[in-house]
Amino acid sequence: MDNLIKALTETFGPSGEEDEVRTLIKSLAKGKIDRVYEDALGNLYLEREGPAPKIMVSAHMDEIGVIITHIDDNGFIRIAPVGGMSAQALPGKRFRFRSGTIGTVYHEKLKNIKELDWTKIYLDIGQPDRKAAMKLVNIGDLACYDQSFRAMEGGRCISKAMDDRVGCAVMLETINRLPRELPQAVCFLFSVQEEVGLRGATTAAYRYEPDYGIAVDVTLVGDTPKAHTMEVSLGKGPAIKVKDRSVLCHPLVRKLMVDAAAKNNIPYQLEVLERGGTDAGAIHISREGVPSGAISIPCRYVHSPSEVVDSADLENAVLLLEKLLTQNWPKQERSY
Ligand code: CO
Ligand code: ZN
Repeated sequence: MDNLIKALTETFGPSGEEDEVRTLIKSLAKGKIDRVYEDALGNLYLEREGPAPKIMVSAHMDEIGVIITHIDDNGFIRIAPVGGMSAQALPGKRFRFRSGTIGTVYHEKLKNIKELDWTKIYLDIGQPDRKAAMKLVNIGDLACYDQSFRAMEGGRCISKAMDDRVGCAVMLETINRLPRELPQAVCFLFSVQEEVGLRGATTAAYRYEPDYGIAVDVTLVGDTPKAHTMEVSLGKGPAIKVKDRSVLCHPLVRKLMVDAAAKNNIPYQLEVLERGGTDAGAIHISREGVPSGAISIPCRYVHSPSEVVDSADLENAVLLLEKLLTQNWPKQERSY
């Protein structure tokens, strides 16, 4: 899966400009799906037909980035975050625009490093003045971390945008392995604008009207030095979400996941995430309510340019999703 993850993570795709990622995913899924369509916001739907119920599985295509707010007379650029990014982590980090223009972030003179916030940092794209800079970029242009994918010794790998291109990779790999006939209909949603508030999944769930929802996204871990106390570790299997800030996972969906893992000897962990959300947060409150859960990929240093995941967790996430989608899900009775 390394090549797939390399291709996906190195593609440019900040929230609202996911088209290069969408084009790549469409080409990778060619011929393996019954129906492919997009909507007005740019969500990509890969549908597999089948009888009721309908399951929506979602991973987001967008990654966090920065947006140009101002360019000064000397060609220095002021930026604001698009998605969850801390100014304090940025000095020395490189960013790349869609055009290929790159720059590095640095900061004004500070009395104390604690003063460092978005008003004190700037992006330097190597131009002598505003006029020269404006030939390359404009107000409102988006840039993402400029950081390539690398496999580490022993099965872990490191890249920008593991959040959530690894989720996209897990879904694509699952699509590859599914049998011709499925016991129920499945829509693989590659959503837009998750990082700015689960916006793509909100409209996509309304359109597809699923009976169940599953998000595939990264989660934080508690296994690094003096980390915030948390159950999830890297390499101990995909995490079955219990809750995050956006969703309390439906007990039935959680049970189906736990049972499928146990029955097939797939290692798993239970996840209670105190920060952050996923597409399941949007799907489960769509229309009249959609029982939803999430399969999470343990990930270190989420939202940094060097997010680290373990290949065995990815492999086991694919296995879990495959087993889940090939088993019978209960039909939903509606009482009025
Ligand atoms: Co994220
Ligand atoms: Zn994510």
